[in-house]
Amino acid sequence: MLEKPFSQSCENNKQPILDILSRVLVDKTTLLEIGSGTGQHAAHFAPRLTHLQWHTSDMPDKHLAIAAWLEDVDVDNVHQPFSLTIGASSTWPLANIDAVFTANTTHIMQPLETQFMMQLVADNLPVGGVFCQYGPYKFQGQYSSESNKAFDQHLAQQGCGGIRDINELTLWAKPLFLLETVVMPANNFMLVWQK
Ligand SMILES: C[S@@+](CC[C@H](N)C(=O)[O-])C[C@H]1O[C@@H](n2cnc3c(N)ncnc32)[C@H](O)[C@@H]1O
Repeated sequence: MLEKPFSQSCENNKQPILDILSRVLVDKTTLLEIGSGTGQHAAHFAPRLTHLQWHTSDMPDKHLAIAAWLEDVDVDNVHQPFSLTIGASSTWPLANIDAVFTANTTHIMQPLETQFMMQLVADNLPVGGVFCQYGPYKFQGQYSSESNKAFDQHLAQQGCGGIRDINELTLWAKPLFLLETVVMPANNFMLVWQK
């Protein structure tokens, strides 16, 4: 088994994120995580949100890492990753998903991929379904901090899509409605959308 990759930012943000998920997903049953990455979030959240079936997903090159983290989790409500690469031909991996979580994927994806993600979630969640989207965002074209502006320049150099504006996400997410924009540590936000 692969040595587990470790993300310090996951370690830092897991409790603030859990506080929100515990509150806004209290009546949900089946969650899809998009871009599970190392698998650390799933390994932390699933044992603490036992009312949810937690389905991980990412591109295939991340699956070994996710499996390595899930190996240490002794609960039966967390599931091995679906192969889900967001793009024009992405399909919804499972019926009955009433919640979606994604962290730090929106600024990594190309803008068109983010648009596909918003549309895929909006099309497939049932009425009342919730989408929690964690990361850095722009507001009316403005960065929320100088450090996010510098981070965005770094993302551009890396070929990533960059920090998206809440206004464009709102257009792409229709008919999802932006229920809450929660200020999080380290100049991040949790967007809570509902259909
Ligand atoms: C910065 S990592 C975040 C991982 C994890 N969610 C976290 O918060 O640590 C970005 C993740 O997005 C995934 N990703 C990037 N583009 C994607 C796409 N088009 N479809 C699905 N996942 C994608 C990457 O594989 C990676 O795991």
